[in-house]
Amino acid sequence: MVLNKQLTFLDLFSGIGGFKIALERAGFKSIGFCDNDEYANKLYRAYFKNDKELFYDDIRKINTSELPDFDILCAGFPCQSFSIAGKRRGFEDTRGTMFFEVARILKDKRPKYFILENVKGLLNHDGGKTFQTILKVLSDIGYSVQWQLLNSKFFGVPQNRERVYIVGCYGKECTGKIFPLSGSNSENYSEVRIKQIPPTIGNSQGNRVYFTDGLSTCLTSNGGGQGGKTGLYFINKPRFDKYKQSDIVETLKVAGDTPLMKVRNGTKKGFDEACIGDGINLAYPQSRTRRGRVGKGCSQTLDTNCNMGTIDDYRIRRLTPLECFRLQGFPDEMVKVARDIGLADCRLYKMAGNAITVNVAEAVARKIADCEQSAEGLEKSKTADPFNASNQAAEVENGST
Ligand SMILES: C[S@@+](CC[C@H](N)C(=O)[O-])C[C@H]1O[C@@H](n2cnc3c(N)ncnc32)[C@H](O)[C@@H]1O
Repeated sequence: MVLNKQLTFLDLFSGIGGFKIALERAGFKSIGFCDNDEYANKLYRAYFKNDKELFYDDIRKINTSELPDFDILCAGFPCQSFSIAGKRRGFEDTRGTMFFEVARILKDKRPKYFILENVKGLLNHDGGKTFQTILKVLSDIGYSVQWQLLNSKFFGVPQNRERVYIVGCYGKECTGKIFPLSGSNSENYSEVRIKQIPPTIGNSQGNRVYFTDGLSTCLTSNGGGQGGKTGLYFINKPRFDKYKQSDIVETLKVAGDTPLMKVRNGTKKGFDEACIGDGINLAYPQSRTRRGRVGKGCSQTLDTNCNMGTIDDYRIRRLTPLECFRLQGFPDEMVKVARDIGLADCRLYKMAGNAITVNVAEAVARKIADCEQSAEGLEKSKTADPFNASNQAAEVENGST
């Protein structure tokens, strides 16, 4: 989409640039970025080659009187203090107060739009008071605020990841409706499943093969292989090093053409069955009480340690960094660049777990672009026909006719 004026954006808490990729795809242009993570910044620079953009290594150091104007502020502000997985200290935690730094910049610069992203836990933190405060602060600055909980699995990646997106538009002239993104548009956002690809000739089962279309975990083993011949494989322990001590996986059997693994959990039955293409939660492998370890055709939410696994070559293995980046909608090239600059796997897992899902942010950004285009069209028709209906309605409202 081409707008008459290209809108610009500021990428706060930029991480590895999920918002940057999304907003650039929607036709917007970055003026700068801000993050205090040395490794994320290193990858951001190496991948985007963006020497000309402004950079801040701490949001608290941004002096708004020196900051150029921009049209869209985007920020996935730190979420640990609101996350159900954390201690949930909210605004009492300095990481929670980062929201007020965002509000400070919005108040001083008043960009036309903002897009904020955070964990689902923000909605019910402190009985909903935290979210209410956030909405009130934003509305008091002068923004019309809309929000929606969006799940990555409906936006082209097989990851069950729910995040709240808050979009604001400054001033009365902003009428654009960004949400709901599903509902009326739901046919565009169907659920994606982790895909299995047939074994490739000359490829051993142990090799990892990835789809070039990029989004899914792709496994080479299938029921027509060894499992298909013998009908039953018994493995007491998964072969992946970290989980050697665990008894999370008990048996591998073959149901029809599908190899199944029993994954121990805390249900009455005592296990879930996982097959190729399912995501398996590897956290707390010794636990006998954890439930819901298996995601059918879908990874559960990636975290910063990557505790997600999948079945490959008749064993459970942890997802690779490349797979984690794909589950977040990032291009494969980014992992290649990360390798070239020597970033270790643990850093890549953390970056992927912290990131926004690019596809979701892109859908939101494209809705903003649509609103802008409609506004431009309206403006044009007003200029072309000064007596058009909407002008007359405004005059009646103002009591000027
Ligand atoms: C939830 S992550 C955002 C990730 C990003 N949206 C992406 O796609 O990769 C939050 C980020 O805030 C950064 N951060 C935390 N405190 C900060 C501060 N005071 N100034 C700038 N960045 C900060 C962290 O390093 C982290 O990368």
